[in-house]
Amino acid sequence: MSVKQLFDPIAADMQAVDTVIRERLYSDVVLIRQVAEYIIHSGGKRLRPALVLFTAGAMGYKGTQHHELAAVVEFIHTATLLHDDVVDESDLRRGNKTANAMFGNAASVLVGDFLYSRAFQMMVGVDNMRVMRVLADATNVIAEGEVLQLLNCHNADVGVEDYLRVIRYKTAKLFEAASRLGGILAGADDEQEQRLAAFGMHLGTAFQIIDDVLDYSADEAETGKHLGDDLAEGKPTLPLIHVMLQGSAEQAAIVRNAIESGGRDDFAAVLGAIQATGALDEARRHARVEADLAIDAISTLPPSNFKDALLQLSDFAVARNH
Ligand code: IPE
Ligand code: IPE
Ligand code: MG
Ligand code: MG
Repeated sequence: MSVKQLFDPIAADMQAVDTVIRERLYSDVVLIRQVAEYIIHSGGKRLRPALVLFTAGAMGYKGTQHHELAAVVEFIHTATLLHDDVVDESDLRRGNKTANAMFGNAASVLVGDFLYSRAFQMMVGVDNMRVMRVLADATNVIAEGEVLQLLNCHNADVGVEDYLRVIRYKTAKLFEAASRLGGILAGADDEQEQRLAAFGMHLGTAFQIIDDVLDYSADEAETGKHLGDDLAEGKPTLPLIHVMLQGSAEQAAIVRNAIESGGRDDFAAVLGAIQATGALDEARRHARVEADLAIDAISTLPPSNFKDALLQLSDFAVARNH
């Protein structure tokens, strides 16, 4: 099933979220509108806003604040992408030139700041202290994750646990926040909120593991991103860590050198070592374990088409090619 079909139960809500997004992108400053609209209307999957809507729906929420919060979460996500593409020196996203390639690094960083601070204006408007705490904490942890990752670049001694910490911070934390927010809006009790949070955390972890697998195996036409961006930055992601743990001394040395030097020259050799050691399947197995933990976390939710969609999203996170 495609993501589009998965989103059927929330189609009308998603349209409402898009309206909020369009309205809240407004600024008198033309360059802000150009850059922000360029990236936000370029067709991301909108997974994080969908998580807010699905979890709110699964918990029986009846109001409209979830539209605003779904837009907030997408703004935070978009701000991180604007910054991430500058740091990663990426030039392709969502099948188009990245904002940094199109408008320059300075414009990307500054419009990323605009989106973060606009998200905070919107969140204050919701006027719910627990909501603010969740989003403030998540945004802070994402920044920690990106800095931790920067520290880990070109370090071939990064292990599985170090890697997992980075992806929980930089990626899974926002999935966690999005899932928690739906519960908070719907008046979930503490235990239910924790279950939704655990669901988001495991789902986001699976999602990023597969993102890192796709950086070595995807069809660029499907992901809309270039292969090999991670290796170019010397990022020690899970497939590479597996080669170093399980490969021959020679295979491990190829990967170690590539991480330490970065760049794209060693891509073919690294890919050879990855394929010979089955490192991508090993990483996919790990993502499957995380997705199963996500599924377990929401097993006690009452049955609904929203819950079904959350379960299917967990499978999508592992099986996806985009
Ligand atoms: C990209 O996220 C960044 C990661 C956390 C891997 P998505 O794959 O959700 O990006 P879009 O919004 O669909 O483009
Ligand atoms: C995810 O990491 C980035 C954020 C959470 C901001 P990546 O660097 O792997 O994401 P892509 O591959 O550029 O989308
Ligand atoms: Mg990146
Ligand atoms: Mg990536």
